[in-house]
Amino acid sequence: MDARKTTFSAPGKIILFGEHAVVYGYPAIVTAIDLRTKCVVSKSLQNEVQLSISSDYLFNKPSAELKKEYIMNKEQNEFITQDSKYEQPVNPAYYFITEKILELATRKKYPHIHINSEIPPGMGLGSSAASAVATLASLSAFMELELSMEELNELAFEAEKIIHGRPSGVDNTISTYGGIHLYKEKKFSKLSIPNFSSYVVIVNSGIPRNTKTYVEKVVKSLEEDTSKYQNILEEIGNITIIAKSSLGEGDTQKLGKLMTQNHLLLEELGVSHPILTELTNSLVQLGSVGSKLTGAGGGGCVIGLFDNYQKANRAVEEMKNRGFQAFISSLAERGVQVE
Ligand code: MEV
Repeated sequence: MDARKTTFSAPGKIILFGEHAVVYGYPAIVTAIDLRTKCVVSKSLQNEVQLSISSDYLFNKPSAELKKEYIMNKEQNEFITQDSKYEQPVNPAYYFITEKILELATRKKYPHIHINSEIPPGMGLGSSAASAVATLASLSAFMELELSMEELNELAFEAEKIIHGRPSGVDNTISTYGGIHLYKEKKFSKLSIPNFSSYVVIVNSGIPRNTKTYVEKVVKSLEEDTSKYQNILEEIGNITIIAKSSLGEGDTQKLGKLMTQNHLLLEELGVSHPILTELTNSLVQLGSVGSKLTGAGGGGCVIGLFDNYQKANRAVEEMKNRGFQAFISSLAERGVQVE
């Protein structure tokens, strides 16, 4: 089959419990959310491998971000641009992904890869993993390669390592398979949450941060005071295990308390930020039963749990009035899928 155009999308994620500890083999609870990255691959009209990136962040609607155009350059091992309007180099993971798929493919043709994302980057919502997964799925289908879900996830993990240094693999796994999972040491078990009737509000602090920096910060802290930081990670791990039962029971109040405890431990771990603490406190004042930062910390997003939709909605409006981007997120969304 000569695929003329292939389109796949993959979701972003939030970590409900256990970030950072998950890097050290403790469990985390992670869910796919309804913000997605879409990748369309069509035939390049220039006999060159082309890459176009645009964004349509739900948070920033209406968005009019510049569409960025690149061409694959094999000598320089990167995608390059002729356009001086944007100097930021393109994420090197795209080169890795494209080179890998072209190498594996037997049919030779030049793809034009178009990526459009709703997920704001650098905010702990798994935007790089969603881009990697959507691109791998769409490009491999275009090149008529049949990758299994496991192969796709494994390649996305390699791409994540290029960007994040020492990731746990949680972002690419959740983006590939979707749903809500307990994730531990590259193994995940799907959670069923029939009794869960609470609402999760995501608030973007607007402070960009880098996952790699904060993962490395924890590595350094552990080297400096192993027993202190090891204890914190272990406590986070214990909270996650209790949270798994509370999720199953649909015990919103307990989950809220655990979230707040998890946040305090992340503060002790040194990965919070005064604005994140302020935002978690504000969410509690606005009726959340518990709140924490989500992702690597240092900026990015906080989440708050609500037992009532109206309260959650009011909190979202109030956060928007204060100038923050906020929304109620659905959980356990679908993983990578054809569009
Ligand atoms: C980043 O979304 C979550 C961290 O635990 C890093 C990782 O799991 O790769 C901080």
